[in-house]
Amino acid sequence: MRIPVIAGNWKMNKTVVESIALVKELKDFIREIKGVDIVVCSPFTSLWVVKEIINGTSIHLGAQNMYWETKGAFTGEISPLMLKDVGCEYVILGHSERREHFKETSEEVVKKTKAAFSFNLIPIVCIGENFEERESGKTKSIIEQEVKALFLEIDSTLAGRIIIAYEPIWAIGTGKSANSQEANLINKFIRELFSSEYGNKVAEQIRILYGGSVNPKNIEELMNESDIDGALVGGASLYALTFSQIVKAAEIL
Ligand code: 13P
Repeated sequence: MRIPVIAGNWKMNKTVVESIALVKELKDFIREIKGVDIVVCSPFTSLWVVKEIINGTSIHLGAQNMYWETKGAFTGEISPLMLKDVGCEYVILGHSERREHFKETSEEVVKKTKAAFSFNLIPIVCIGENFEERESGKTKSIIEQEVKALFLEIDSTLAGRIIIAYEPIWAIGTGKSANSQEANLINKFIRELFSSEYGNKVAEQIRILYGGSVNPKNIEELMNESDIDGALVGGASLYALTFSQIVKAAEIL
């Protein structure tokens, strides 16, 4: 039985004051919830204050990115040590917005994934195809490329702890979510790739999320699918009510 994960990616939104308000409200909404791992990935500037508020609750803290080195002359970067220090347990890596706007490569994402593991942070590694790739039938080959890059560096003792977020780029922030059956087929494909590399036991352990226009209306259908183990939520995580509704749907099913 895989415990579902609902992770909110706030992206570059929320000042400190706004973060406090959001997470306080969220805390109230999800007081009774069990059986789902809830993760809030605030901007770096709010991590500390969010951690202070969620202490003692079932909400976990995550970051949206990090560098792979531990410390040193890397102006502007944040290390896994720093994330751990501030109370993070999770970190989103390789989000398509980082791959696109900041030219992050799969090799870099792998380095970050390794570094996250060495600090006992759970990596949420994002993969997914863009619209043109989808239209030209390249979805599976893109997914395979991105997943196999991880296999080169991540050994089987760690592989089972990774979280993969399948986020078709054309579905992010567009209100156009992937059809749940289609998303499930891709998640299944990802699990098969893990199975052929690490065996069935590891493949059955890893949690594979869906991301892209997830909202309180489509979450149930997504969660009903065999290989969708939760969601990485953007826009709808900026509101305590909608995020908590998504969390509740994941808990019930
Ligand atoms: P939206 O839920 O706003 O489509 O964003 C998805 C996403 O990119 C989460 O990482």
